[in-house]
Amino acid sequence: MVVNETERPLSLEMTAEHDMLLTAVRDFAQREIAPVAAEFDESGEFPLDTVRKMGEMGLMGIEVPEEYGGAGMDTLAHVLTMIEIAKADASHSTILSVNNSLYCNGILWFGTEAQKREWITPVASGAEVGAYSLTEPMSGSDAGNMASRAMLNEAGTHYIINGRKSWVTSAPFADRIVLFTMTADHLPQSPNLDRGTTHRNITAFLVDTSQPGFSRGKTEPKLGIRASATSEIIFDDYACPVENVLGGVGQGFKIAMTVLDAGRIGIAAQALGIAEAAYEAALIYAREREAFGAPIGSYQMIQQKIADMKTRMEAGRALIYQAIIAKERALTSGGRYTTEASMAKLFCSEAAAYVTDEALQIHGGMGYSKEMPLERYYRDARITRIYEGTSEIQRMVIARNELGLR
Ligand code: CAA
Repeated sequence: MVVNETERPLSLEMTAEHDMLLTAVRDFAQREIAPVAAEFDESGEFPLDTVRKMGEMGLMGIEVPEEYGGAGMDTLAHVLTMIEIAKADASHSTILSVNNSLYCNGILWFGTEAQKREWITPVASGAEVGAYSLTEPMSGSDAGNMASRAMLNEAGTHYIINGRKSWVTSAPFADRIVLFTMTADHLPQSPNLDRGTTHRNITAFLVDTSQPGFSRGKTEPKLGIRASATSEIIFDDYACPVENVLGGVGQGFKIAMTVLDAGRIGIAAQALGIAEAAYEAALIYAREREAFGAPIGSYQMIQQKIADMKTRMEAGRALIYQAIIAKERALTSGGRYTTEASMAKLFCSEAAAYVTDEALQIHGGMGYSKEMPLERYYRDARITRIYEGTSEIQRMVIARNELGLR
């Protein structure tokens, strides 16, 4: 449910630290990432150099306390960073988002002290890349329905993991992965298991990708965010020490969902960043491009587009801010912010689709050409309606919570 208004702080405070971060990230993103974005999109190469630089700036572990190698900042800092990086290049912001939200948060919130030190520090500092693996070839939206299995060995020292996971962002380069798999080896691999049974038997594991039994499958050829490498991962008798269970056996589904709530705020910010880039390009073009003897921005049909684009972006920003407030409150006082996160992601991803489409339309033929970034923004925005929960799943989550249904 949406947090009670009276219990919620009414505003976000933009501190001097946030201002400094914003200026530094904007400058870095425009100077170092924007100029190479088209090239990496074309080649589909993973931008390891700039990812390492984001790490050096503290951006790969923004909300991670400094003692574990992070920047020790808050959700607003994360959102401001995501918007600026996505504005320069959505692929970079995808890598950043998974590293921060889906990898570091899970260990920070559910890990032991020893796990935090060993598993967060190298990834939050950007020396290594982190990933999160929930999806399987036969289960995407229905995340609780898994075929992969982890079986405890006789000595009780290791879980032996077998199975395939798919659509794992950053997997081709990830050094460490938070993996979700079933620990109920007695259960058949059936898609029709009782739902409660499957959810209660999913466990999160910390996986070191340099160990035997781990391999990478095919890299997905994608429509957008082409420089953020995505692949299958394969477990073939991978022996995972019992110390690498995250948050307790059978707690995996809740960990996966809790982490996704935070991730969805990040994807909302990514969508807003892509939309802002497209919108700002459209403003410039509408002022400069002339048709029928006047700038096209002087015509009401273009003005209507500009007004609707701007209004949707600002409405999305307000939903993101509401979600940030709800998350910060939940982190200090408990509770969930699932609905706020889903509303922000749903609205911003659909706003990004609208804004990138209209911005391309305002550019006419030039928008369709690869000589301008509009077609890239249009392609990159598309994924935000799919990953970390499709728009259909966000609507289901919001409605179920509002109706009090499961
Ligand atoms: N926080 C904490 N716990 C939660 C939760 C949340 N947000 N949502 C559900 N749970 C808990 C429930 O309370 C319930 O617990 P109990 O059994 O103790 O009551 C349990 O989890 C099961 O909940 P549901 O019955 O609601 O589960 P469901 O099977 O109906 O599924 C769902 C819910 C929301 C549809 C979920 O499956 C879902 O989010 N699907 C989409 C998956 C997704 O986003 N995948 C993207 C993967 S990451 C990615 O995109 C790639 C990348 O690398 C970027």
